[in-house]
Amino acid sequence: MKIVVANDHAAVNMKKEIMSFVEDLGYEALNVGTDSEESCDYPIYAEKAARAVVDGEADCGILICGTGVGISIAANKVKGIRAAVCSDVTTARLVKEHNNANMIAFGARIVGTELAKDIVKAYLDARFLGGKHERRVHMISEIEKKQN
Ligand code: RB5
Repeated sequence: MKIVVANDHAAVNMKKEIMSFVEDLGYEALNVGTDSEESCDYPIYAEKAARAVVDGEADCGILICGTGVGISIAANKVKGIRAAVCSDVTTARLVKEHNNANMIAFGARIVGTELAKDIVKAYLDARFLGGKHERRVHMISEIEKKQN
């Protein structure tokens, strides 16, 4: 399973920690974020990661900026992306179980490295529950289809 990882300048170190962590768990990690701490624009990296997921190059994605918010909002503009900001382990599990989130996001300025690893593991270990949740996820896709 391949996981695409994107970040802006606020999350270079966190990205490195998370990439090693997912590789240690046995996943393949694809880095499309910046490796420089010079100020940059997170939508660029959000879009690269989101397109890797919708194009099938990656199975899911991890987005990291200062808060996780900007980069997730940008990724969610790509059709087919369900990116969810997670600052705790329970949310990370539920966004997979209920929302079938194909990307998670968090903030390097919000969560510490150990919590971030726990968030990632909770998300990767979880499985979509389907059933009524499938219907709701389908309804989200239908809203998307109404846009231009
Ligand atoms: C960059 O300073 C910061 O705005 C960005 O990392 C992120 O937090 C935006 O949502």
